[in-house]
Amino acid sequence: MSNVIVIGSQWGDEGKGKIVDWLSNKADAVVRFQGGHNAGHTLVVNGKIYKLSLLPSGIVRGKKSFIGNGVVLDLWALAKEIKEVSKQGININKELLSISETTCLILSYHRELDTAREHEIDGIKIGTTGRGIGPAYEDKVGRRAIRLCDIFDSKNLKKKVENALFHHNPIRKGLGIDEIKSTDILNQLNDIASFIKPYVSNIWKDLIKLQDEEKNILFEGAQGMMLDNDHGTYPFVTSSNTISAQASLGSGLGYIKKAYTLGITKAYLTRVGEGPFPSEQNNSVGEKLGLLGNEFGTVTGRKRRCGWLDLVLLKQSVDICGIQGIALTKLDVLDSFEKIKICVSYKINDKIFDYLPPIITSSDNFEKKYIELDGWNVSTRSCRNYNDLPKNAKKYVSLLKELTGIDISLLSTSPEREDTILFNDPFR
Ligand code: IMP
Repeated sequence: MSNVIVIGSQWGDEGKGKIVDWLSNKADAVVRFQGGHNAGHTLVVNGKIYKLSLLPSGIVRGKKSFIGNGVVLDLWALAKEIKEVSKQGININKELLSISETTCLILSYHRELDTAREHEIDGIKIGTTGRGIGPAYEDKVGRRAIRLCDIFDSKNLKKKVENALFHHNPIRKGLGIDEIKSTDILNQLNDIASFIKPYVSNIWKDLIKLQDEEKNILFEGAQGMMLDNDHGTYPFVTSSNTISAQASLGSGLGYIKKAYTLGITKAYLTRVGEGPFPSEQNNSVGEKLGLLGNEFGTVTGRKRRCGWLDLVLLKQSVDICGIQGIALTKLDVLDSFEKIKICVSYKINDKIFDYLPPIITSSDNFEKKYIELDGWNVSTRSCRNYNDLPKNAKKYVSLLKELTGIDISLLSTSPEREDTILFNDPFR
């Protein structure tokens, strides 16, 4: 038995979907444990593209898939996704998909509040995905969320919706948005309840049973460590915990036995939305990385900010997430660069930092130290054998191993499922 926790080690968009799909070949079950449809996971299988936001990426291989209590769930987005994936030949039924009954819902007023706040002129703009993620998590900790189990509890649902609107309507009024009637929300929930009912389950029990039976469970993180609500570049973060510790909290497993934490790491760096980005390249290098890497958000279509790999942040992720191995993705995007840089430290007010001090909200005004390597000027795209990589690409990979002090477990050389080089199997 072994379990693997897959975590993004950067600001998301590291290519987790492909790796989870690849690893799920050996998994008995795949679990999403945080985030919501702010995530966008793209899988390419024999040229066929699957775009997933809420469904665990193992579903494409027909693996038992769970959506845990740590996720915030937009039922309408899930219904749309299930419809689209079903059209591609994946038969989603209650045997394949189970959703925790304690998952908190994203409702229309969360989406509207998210957008309205982002348009406020004087507030701090985060650059959210506008999916209602933040407001839904706020309601969760504020104890006024509507959970999946609530929508089948006709006796108490009205009272719970009214309680939530007691909080939301004054805010809406202040923001100049029409107040909302409880009957509108109740009707929306009533319309979707029968669709979702077959999937609702007590998943913590299922997962404990799977763990007791020594099955392989794959935990699929969304976003990335630097977007973690506690450990990321606050306030420019998402509203959930994205680090490995969340895998047990967000799934209902008290603790995960024998877990291997795999940090998905892009060979360069991107970020969507606002916030500090020390190794950002606001120049032709950044433009080229964006173009070659097709760096546009899967969810919002926004252009991603691009820069060199930042070892300071990567080591911070390795430490905080307990990452044991790296899955390095998109190495091929670097193929045509003459010189490749890696950021190794920061100098802030004459002091050298090997981590990003939490007070930093802009990375414009401090010095970044880089090491520079020669590029390889040969295509590595779709390479499936490490020995076929050019010498300098191999150097880049081994330098990363040396600088982080941890193994490179996997190398991905294109979005296609099988364009993957395995060094150490995370499911040992
Ligand atoms: P939210 O999660 O929609 O509240 O957005 C908060 C921040 O996280 C914004 O900067 C988003 O661009 C970023 N973000 C959220 N989800 C993802 C993701 O899946 N990939 C990359 N960035 C994300």
